[in-house]
Amino acid sequence: DARGRRGAGPTEWVPPRNPPKASPPVQHFTLPFVVPPVQRPVRDDVSGTYYAMTQRDASIEIIPGLRTPIMGYEGVFPGPTIMARSGRPTIVDHTNRLAVPVAVHLHGGKNPPAQDGHPTDLMAPGTARRYAYPTDQRGATLWYHDHRLDFTGPQVYRGLAGFHIIRDAVEDALPLPAGDKDVPLLITDRLFEADGTMYYPSSDPSLRTPGLYPWAMNGQYGDTALVNGVPWPRMEVSATKYRFRVLNASNARHWDITLDPPPPSGDPFVQVGSDGGLLSSPVGLRNIVMSPAERFDVVIDFARYPVGTRVVLVNNDRTIPVVTELMCFDVVRRETETATVPARLAPPLDLPDPADAVGIRHFDFTRRADGMWGINGAMFDDRQSLASPALGSTEIWEFTSDVAHPVHLHLVHFRVLSRSRPQSPEPWDGGWKDTVRVRPGETVRIVSRFEGWRGKYVFHCHNLEHEDMMMMANFTVQ
Ligand code: C2O
Ligand code: CU
Repeated sequence: DARGRRGAGPTEWVPPRNPPKASPPVQHFTLPFVVPPVQRPVRDDVSGTYYAMTQRDASIEIIPGLRTPIMGYEGVFPGPTIMARSGRPTIVDHTNRLAVPVAVHLHGGKNPPAQDGHPTDLMAPGTARRYAYPTDQRGATLWYHDHRLDFTGPQVYRGLAGFHIIRDAVEDALPLPAGDKDVPLLITDRLFEADGTMYYPSSDPSLRTPGLYPWAMNGQYGDTALVNGVPWPRMEVSATKYRFRVLNASNARHWDITLDPPPPSGDPFVQVGSDGGLLSSPVGLRNIVMSPAERFDVVIDFARYPVGTRVVLVNNDRTIPVVTELMCFDVVRRETETATVPARLAPPLDLPDPADAVGIRHFDFTRRADGMWGINGAMFDDRQSLASPALGSTEIWEFTSDVAHPVHLHLVHFRVLSRSRPQSPEPWDGGWKDTVRVRPGETVRIVSRFEGWRGKYVFHCHNLEHEDMMMMANFTVQ
């Protein structure tokens, strides 16, 4: 909150520090590609799989030769990956050793309200609590991240984000690339000061960089691409198929990615899954436009390139500061192919049917006259809900927007029904979604079944600065 009205931390005014003109330079494609560590369970029995996770400050090397203070799950960035199993409860005991309150949200998780990490359901510094996830949902690439009211932006920026991948038997039975060819890519952008600190002005002094929010009210953008926390990494691949679970974990940046050079034949990407798991059949994509929080599960076939080729994952979105490249794949060896992408990936998806909808609600995502971001003109107010769908009911929700906003609903996955420009869903809108990119001036309709639990959840813009600046509302399933 720009006026420091409701922040849980101290709110004394500190003079803003000027943003750096540019981050310390990093030579592209020199640092090795890494995969985030996988968290080991502390216990695994009939009642579920148990994990322990400590949130703490740490200092890590991101830019060669410099130390970057982070806030990290287990002190690392990205946080360790949780590998969960559909049908098996996952229990995570979190300890907050940070100087700030936190809330842990499992993005894409279908969880009871008390386990959801509502932004007001905070863990104070020095406390511990258990999040128990029933995991009664299909295989999908989820992620967990901080959700502290008014301060999600700075706390995710400092490092509080990681993968939570659910696998299931449908996926196991497929001949898709697996093992070390099933690779998560957490994509972000950051702006660094000369000493390696991530630049993020915040009105909470315990978040370390003095400054005021309004500087970043359109969103916090950086000039440095990080893939799994590494600036412009280089990955060695064999001339075979790889599956990449791509997550746009940026605070505000929309990426428009493709391969350079493009493959001599076929589409650069074959999409096999989206936010809510596998598509029923694969979709070829020339490029992928990803707004914050969206996941795209894609296969890239490097067999189409001669050994020795460097394939660059490039970004064609020109938001300032412009980031043109993300990482490279060096095709270094031939290898016998063992994977295929079958024409049928999953049984027909049980997507909600608009004919079952009991009503339609309209939500306008626009900036208010006072500069704050609102939904239907209202700023987040925890005493109210903007919608109260009945448990088990199907509703159509319509979103309109002034600038591009990624609209995310907790609890439910939905189907993208229509877009006003063009009038049909885009090819990448398929499958189960939990976040939809609403383009400037566009009207997007989704259809959702409000299944699972009664209670209070949020929906919001996943541009984290818009979210912190109040573009969020409760909905209550009743
Ligand atoms: Cu990924 Cu409410 O968030
Ligand atoms: Cu927004």
